[in-house]
Amino acid sequence: MTGPLVLGIESSCDETGVGIVRGHELLANEVASSVELHARFGGVVPEIASRAHLEAMLPTLERACAEADVDLTEIDAVAVTAGPGLMGALVVGVAAAKALAYALGKPLYGVNHLAGHVAVDLLEHGPLPTPSVALLVSGGHTSLLLVDDIAGNASRKEGGRGIVELGATIDDAAGEAYDKVARLLGLPYPGGPVIDRAATGDPRAIAFPRGLTSARDLERHRFDFSFSGLKTAVARWVETRERDGLDVPLADVAASFQEAVCDVLSAKALDACAATDARDLLIGGGVAANGRLRALLAERAAEAGVALRTPRPGLCTDNGAMIAVLGTEVILAGGRPSGPELGADSSLPV
Ligand code: KG4
Ligand code: ZN
Repeated sequence: MTGPLVLGIESSCDETGVGIVRGHELLANEVASSVELHARFGGVVPEIASRAHLEAMLPTLERACAEADVDLTEIDAVAVTAGPGLMGALVVGVAAAKALAYALGKPLYGVNHLAGHVAVDLLEHGPLPTPSVALLVSGGHTSLLLVDDIAGNASRKEGGRGIVELGATIDDAAGEAYDKVARLLGLPYPGGPVIDRAATGDPRAIAFPRGLTSARDLERHRFDFSFSGLKTAVARWVETRERDGLDVPLADVAASFQEAVCDVLSAKALDACAATDARDLLIGGGVAANGRLRALLAERAAEAGVALRTPRPGLCTDNGAMIAVLGTEVILAGGRPSGPELGADSSLPV
């Protein structure tokens, strides 16, 4: 596919990403992560993330141009994450994108980070049948989206549903729950991959709670999630074992915790497909790399006759290519460029 040559900039959390795409063809996707700088604090420190973006932005941009073998002057448009995310982090990307678009005399498109996680799938699997359901699971967000038109919201097309949020976490994000539980088990940050590897025990060893799945909760929160009760349940269980002088069977605790998270995520995602007649389910965000989540979703999607679209892990986590391809969709849909007054919005709705 041909199309405009679009450069995308992402800086909403702890990854500085610059991606370059032409249509649905991925030409470059460079990411500089500051995750190691946050490790000793057990979570992302906004001030440190902002400073790291400032230092990494131009080198990452240069690497992306080299990887794609394009000169900046060839770029047709610049897309950037305008939100949601950490304010100080977003501002660095928006300022860089504005400067670049201004210097090159090219249009600038401020786009939504969550919609970017959906759009990135186009690079891997081509056009997305609609309606589709997207499950976004990362350290900062956990939501179920109904996707009718990827560019719909940004291009403000009349009559289109665009992307609608069916539900979201009412407290911790799924990745945040992994990170917090890892911390209380004495495991390093980020906890998701560590717990994923440690979860070699019996997933039924401990019956941890499944948030917002009781009949009463489902009435009001059918597509919402809650993980803070689960985190507390793990903490209580560990405390009780230690108080009683018993050892903590890490492999069983990790497997049982992981099962509780993945059971709820996959059950609600497939329920959303059933409720909306969506035949395709796509997943994105760092937690989408989780082995158990992928296996459970594959099993349940096959049973329900739903096609599962899983981008490769490097495209699931925050990156610039997802912003570039979303910008491309907005351009192809005839969306208007953002003006020079484009700002960042830390709680930008999808
Ligand atoms: O999308 P991402 O890279 O950054 C944002 O939060 O936006 O996601 C990072 C999150 C972290 O909470 C990390 O612990 C989690 O994704 N994560 C995982 C796995 N790999 C990363 N969680 C569970 N299993 C994994 N394999
Ligand atoms: Zn993200």
